[in-house]
Amino acid sequence: MQIIATSDGSNTLFHESLDETYHSVHGALGESLHVYINNGLRRISPQLKSINILEIGFGTGLNALLSIDHQAPDTIINYYSIEAYPLSEELLNNYYQGFSEKPKCLAALPKMIHAQSMQSINEHFNFKLIESKLEDLQMEKYNFPAFDLVYFDAFAPSKQAEMWTFEILKKVSDSMAENGLFVTYCSQGQFKRNLKELGFEIDCPPGPFGKREITVAKKIKAIV
Ligand SMILES: C[S@@+](CC[C@H](N)C(=O)[O-])C[C@H]1O[C@@H](n2cnc3c(N)ncnc32)[C@H](O)[C@@H]1O
Repeated sequence: MQIIATSDGSNTLFHESLDETYHSVHGALGESLHVYINNGLRRISPQLKSINILEIGFGTGLNALLSIDHQAPDTIINYYSIEAYPLSEELLNNYYQGFSEKPKCLAALPKMIHAQSMQSINEHFNFKLIESKLEDLQMEKYNFPAFDLVYFDAFAPSKQAEMWTFEILKKVSDSMAENGLFVTYCSQGQFKRNLKELGFEIDCPPGPFGKREITVAKKIKAIV
């Protein structure tokens, strides 16, 4: 795993065997803010005072840290993150070292990476990290709440097709609340058709750094 500088002064990681980066090389921080915070958290938080978030792919923890930094003051967030291959604390320390502007609550990261049970990160933000492949996760064993917001941050379909199948997306969809939002940087056609078939209404706002679009999908009806 190599740490790579991106164009906005933040870093990403390069996964050598997949030949893929964790974030856009044009800006890890900018991408995470644009996709998950501005088109996810900020879209949903005016309506909800208590928000249950599911993240697929904790990785560097950037989305989780930014969710704390950008949480509306009068909301509670319960954040569950699934990660198959957790990164070491040492690698994460080095990763954030080079950020020109670090997440404000970076000091919470060590507690988060050891949060095998739900932990209070601050009085409004609760966090649990589940070490598992999404495919292997038996959702019914976890007593999860219905999720209001999903950050789907897996590697791209061209690199990890098994994460974007109808069956996996149905598993995530089944865990979501009605009107819940599913947000991802990906805008692949087959993936969006799968979501439509699962009863989602699809919005495709522009992506960051000139990328044509991303996907924000609202769960309208449950498909049995
Ligand atoms: C594109 S990276 C994004 C990570 C993270 N959101 C970030 O900002 O650093 C994808 C993440 O998904 C994880 N992952 C890969 N396969 C997985 C699987 N089968 N189930 C759950 N997570 C997986 C990877 O280890 C990696 O951390």
